[in-house]
Amino acid sequence: MQCKIGVFSCQAYDQKTLNQASEHHKGAELKYFETTLNEQSVSLCQGLDTVCVFVNDTVNESVIIALAKSGVRHIALRCAGYNNIDLKAAKKYGLCVSRVPAYSPHSVAEHAIALMLTLNRKTHRAFNRVREGNFNLNGLMGFTLHGKRVGVVGTGHIGKATANILKGFGCTVLCCDPQPDSSLAAECTYTSFDDILQTCDIITLHCPLNDDTFHLIDHHNINQMKDGVMLINTSRGALIDTKAMIEGLKSEKIGSLGIDVYEQEASLFFTDHSMDIIHDDIFERLQTFPNVLITGHQGFFTREAMEEIATTTLANIVHFCQGTLSEHNRVI
Ligand code: NAI
Repeated sequence: MQCKIGVFSCQAYDQKTLNQASEHHKGAELKYFETTLNEQSVSLCQGLDTVCVFVNDTVNESVIIALAKSGVRHIALRCAGYNNIDLKAAKKYGLCVSRVPAYSPHSVAEHAIALMLTLNRKTHRAFNRVREGNFNLNGLMGFTLHGKRVGVVGTGHIGKATANILKGFGCTVLCCDPQPDSSLAAECTYTSFDDILQTCDIITLHCPLNDDTFHLIDHHNINQMKDGVMLINTSRGALIDTKAMIEGLKSEKIGSLGIDVYEQEASLFFTDHSMDIIHDDIFERLQTFPNVLITGHQGFFTREAMEEIATTTLANIVHFCQGTLSEHNRVI
């Protein structure tokens, strides 16, 4: 099998794991591009069979038309979410889309818990204080997680793993999902989204971004929440209306916010901007709150998950070329 693959948004760690995975697939010829795939960079795809993309690549209709003209027949996502792909256009122009449906969901679940624990017990602040010889505890008080009501919105692979960890902490776990998981129902209580909004001390988002979930957390829903609620989002940034969230933080309705994803992250995340002027004032405002913790989309970033992503992505590409791509990994 001979297959030319263009890997976009490629960092050194992607290249390393994909090179290792490709040792088992001698016909796979990988070309690595650090740039994201978008209208400007799509000209690099001439002669490729497959483009391999990640969360912040722009695969809209005009990019898809250009890909089809270049001879590309397959878009291989090396992630689970596919909100950045125009699936209708892909279908119209005959491009297959594959993804990695589950790669260590525990990695993202554990990161959501890390955000919760750090925000609550303020270990990031304690670390800095102790290094400076400041052993004062003022401002570091948290709450006991045991016994708290935690709402898990979306109980697919990651939400389920998160719910199970929270059960281990002794939390009362409430879940909502249009497709409840029967194995989780024995351990946790399925309820409505509104009940979660109104009664939970912590809410963690694990549903996909789509037309129905865009700005799921808006002014109206923030106002329904308990005063001082902790909100965690490791899913996709646009689940939260960030402007409404800033108002919620200013009014102290939101007690703390932990996010691994941000609506406008595409122009910031995965790149070193430490010497740049950041022009995104909404992001900068978020950074000013002492009770906001932001990480740069690293929930997936464990050794195990990266190996799984590379192996499954390469297998998807090879199976597509051989006409044996499984329905499970196919988006359309
Ligand atoms: P999944 O497809 O296994 O589960 C998603 C669940 O959400 C499904 O059970 C679905 O029925 C449910 N759902 C859909 N609409 C809902 C709604 N309105 N309210 C409540 N539940 C709803 O997906 P998985 O693997 O658990 O991933 C979840 C999301 O996490 C992905 O869509 C992706 O955006 C994000 N993600 C983030 C990563 C990171 O590094 N931060 C890494 C991997 C995924």
